[in-house]
Amino acid sequence: MAILKIARMGHPVLLQTADPVADPTSPEIRRLVADMFETLDDIGGAGLAAPQVHVPLRLFIFRIRPERVGGDADDRPIANTTVINPVLSFIGEQRQIGWEGCLSIPGLRAAVPRAWRVRYEGVDTDGNKVTGEATGAHAAIVQHEYDHLDGILYPMRMGGADFVHFGFTEDLAKAGQPEFRRSAPIA
Ligand code: NI
Repeated sequence: MAILKIARMGHPVLLQTADPVADPTSPEIRRLVADMFETLDDIGGAGLAAPQVHVPLRLFIFRIRPERVGGDADDRPIANTTVINPVLSFIGEQRQIGWEGCLSIPGLRAAVPRAWRVRYEGVDTDGNKVTGEATGAHAAIVQHEYDHLDGILYPMRMGGADFVHFGFTEDLAKAGQPEFRRSAPIA
């Protein structure tokens, strides 16, 4: 096991389209996933995609720890989840706006618009099918991590969103901006 170095915004690996994983059950992939979880535990955070540790392959991990549940209606803890070669689909037209940070953009966070509900499927390192339907924070995390596999970072998703809600975590907190709150579904 090892703690991996995180690529930061500006590194080209974060802007490329990642390649499918040929054998999700290979020892190399199992080791990578174990190291990614160890890295996430060390740094803290909800999710991590392989390109963020300089490996341009289509896999990500995530979890929501009980102490990080934000108190919105749909928030709940999520166990450690590995999704290799994910397929993501949007369900319905509802949107949400919620605060996001990224280990590749340390110190900053922003209010980012996302789909309210998504479905994802892939496989884990045992080759078992992983499927989930997610709303709220869970759905936002999945969209954020999936985007990393296509070279997309959250500021690229802000679109016309108000850049008043983009800044350094510390200074936003001083300004009284809540850390986890997200909107109810927006039609
Ligand atoms: Ni990220």
